Formats: sequence, structure tokens, C-alpha cells
Amino acid sequence: MHILVTGGLGYIGSHTCVELLQAGHGVTILDNLSNSRADVAERIAGLGGAAPIFIEGDVRDRQLLCRIFREQTVDAVIHFAGLKAVGESVAQPLRYYECNVGGSLVLFEAMAEAGVKTLVFSSSATVYGDPHAVPIREDFPLRATNPYGRSKLMLEEVLADMAAADSQWRIARLRYFNPVGAHESGLLGEAPNGIPNNLMPYVAQVAAGLRARLSVFGNDYPTPDGTGVRDFIHVVDLAQGHLAALAALARGEGMLTVNLGTGRGYSVLDLVRAFEAASGRTIPFDFVPRRPGDIAACYADPALAASLLGWTARRDLAAMCRDTWRWQQTAVTLGLA
Ligand code: NAD
Ligand code: WQD
Repeated sequence: MHILVTGGLGYIGSHTCVELLQAGHGVTILDNLSNSRADVAERIAGLGGAAPIFIEGDVRDRQLLCRIFREQTVDAVIHFAGLKAVGESVAQPLRYYECNVGGSLVLFEAMAEAGVKTLVFSSSATVYGDPHAVPIREDFPLRATNPYGRSKLMLEEVLADMAAADSQWRIARLRYFNPVGAHESGLLGEAPNGIPNNLMPYVAQVAAGLRARLSVFGNDYPTPDGTGVRDFIHVVDLAQGHLAALAALARGEGMLTVNLGTGRGYSVLDLVRAFEAASGRTIPFDFVPRRPGDIAACYADPALAASLLGWTARRDLAAMCRDTWRWQQTAVTLGLA
């Protein structure tokens, strides 16, 4: 198949492109470089064993999309492009709705016009808000608590309406839990701009000596050690979940909505200890008050992904930390951290 990957130079997109190329698919990447660099395309080519076509551009550019669909034979789209910082979305809601919702609508329209009706969409566990129980099943109530999450929820509903109106659509809505880790080669990974918001990149920068100490946000949650519990999933497992979703859609599934997580919850302190073991470095930390908007525990029931996609996450927390640590050292060498 030939796949158009929007946001394909970003963190999850770049790992997915490598898996697609290795599996023999053709790949066109559309990315506006707002949170990535063009040289990632070369590293994807090296690891994937074939070069993707890279087009620098924006999913909001309708003419560009029409040209891509006219000039290339695209069988399916994996749509990663968008903005993802929760705090920023609270401060700049219009920017988030315009890019995430507006950009996606332009893309879906161009797809419909070109007759390309197979789509894998990046949703998020954030659509469950503060869940009433864990593990979280796909049929739990949905309730986003910030503009970023609401943009995902709105798009999930748009996609359901599209599928209801036209049975030719083949759509997978994939709800990612907490993607972490990096390619095991050490050549691809997440390169956050400025101070990382997320736990794993922050911990990696403390281990590398780039930041002095980790602030652990809250140690009074109703969890085994009092710190937040999350379903950390290795980004390569997550990437492979996209290939499994494409295969399921090719088998004829009309609409798939699945959690992509491991089903295991680890606490902030579990992750810190695992990273210390993987890196051989000490991670100094302080307990500080809870971060507003955080929830105590969030982990997936991954049973539906196993049955519908035949996919399960295989890499453990030690691998997630080891690969992040290897990438952290590359990032320093490349001047990315
Ligand atoms: P990322 O920022 O690393 O990648 C997104 C890519 O899209 C970047 O390369 C960026 O330059 C590009 N982009 C942004 N807006 C664009 C636009 N308008 N047109 C073209 N390109 C654009 O993020 P990621 O972590 O790889 O996330 C990918 C997707 O997965 C996003 O939709 C995100 O909301 C979703 N997601 C991420 C997480 C996570 O924790 N990383 C969790 C759940 C869902
Ligand atoms: C994990 C745990 C923090 C940083 C976010 C988005 C979510 C999804 C994934 C896109 C929590 C604690 C963190 C730090 C800490 N993204 N922590 N010190 O908040 O579960 O999810 O990313 O869809 O929408 O909200 O991930 O990595 O920020 O936090 O103690 O410096 O680590 O309190 O318990 P989160 P995270």
C-alpha cells in the first residue's frame, strides 16, 4: 500500500514510517516542521530501508492536499499532524481548534473528494477524562477536560458521523495511552522543545545532567506509592499498532475504536527507579504539589486491540527506559537537547 502520513516527522509518526517502510509500504510524509526537523526523513530512510517522499506543508492547505491526492496513488492516510501540549491548549484554545479540528476537516474533505476513504486517526486516552475505574475500556464514558482533549473528542465524533453517512469509509480511532521510549537504534526519538512537559523526557534530561532535579507532582494520590500511575507504552509497539489497524481495515472493518496501551500501570516512582537502573545514573527528585488537571491512575484494558487487531504491546518498562536513554545521548550529540 502507499500511505500518506501527516505529521510523519514527529515523534510517533517517524517511528510509524520506519515500520511501514520495513513492511514494504510506500510512504509520503506531509509535515509543516512546526515540531520536527527535515533531517528526520533521512534517518527514517536509513532505518526503514527505503526513502519516504517528504513534502513540507500543512494539512490546512487544501490545494496542496488535492495536488498530493491527484499526483500520487494514496491507498490510506495515517493522520498524526496536530498540536499536543495540554497546558498550551488551555492558554491558546483557538490555535488548537484551528489546527487540530480545522486541519483535520480540510484533510477529511480532500480525502473524500479524492475517494481515499481509509484513515487511521491519532486519538488519546485523554478522551476518558478522569475515569471512574481502571483498567479503562473503550465503552467508558468520554469527557475531555481541556481544549486539546476536546479537539480529539470532537474529531472522534466527526469521524463517527462520516462513517455513518458513507459506508465506504474505513476508519480506525486509536486511543494512545502514554507513549515513551525511542527507536532501539538510538537514531529516532522525541526531541521536546524547551522544558519537557512529560515525565519520561524530563527524567532522561535529569539523568543526562541537563536538568538538576525532577519535581514529582503529588505523592498523596490513592495509588500504591502515592504518585500518579500511567500506562507507558513503547513508541515502537505503538507504531506497530498502526500497521495492525491498517491490516484490520483492509480486512473490511468499517469503524474501529481501540485503546493502544499495555494494560499495566506504573507509578512515577516506578519509572524513576527503572530509569536509574537503565542509565546507571541517580535521578534526584522532590515531591511537590499535584499538577492541576492530573488524575491518579490511567491504564488501558487492551483486550479489544488484541481481539480486533491481533496486536499487543511487547516491550517492557526496562526497554522503554533503555531506549529513551540511548536516544537521549544521541539527542545531546545532535544538539537537540
Ligand atoms: P509530534 O508533535 O512529535 O508530531 C506531530 C507532527 O505533526 C510534528 O512533526 C509537527 O511538525 C507536525 N504538524 C503539526 N501541525 C501540523 C499541520 N497543521 N500540518 C502538518 N504538519 C503538522 O507529536 P506526537 O507525539 O508524534 O503525536 C502525534 C499525534 O498523536 C498527535 O495527533 C497527538 O495529539 C497524538 N497523541 C500523542 C500522544 C503523546 O503523548 N505523544 C498521546 C496521545 C495522542
Ligand atoms: C505522567 C505522570 C504527572 C512530569 C499527557 C497528556 C495526555 C497524553 C499523554 C496526548 C503524571 C507526573 C510528569 C513531571 C511528574 N498526550 N509528572 N513530574 O499527564 O499522563 O499525559 O501526555 O494525548 O493527553 O495529558 O503524562 O508524562 O505529563 O505525566 O511527576 O515533571 O508523571 O503528574 O502523574 P500525562 P505526563
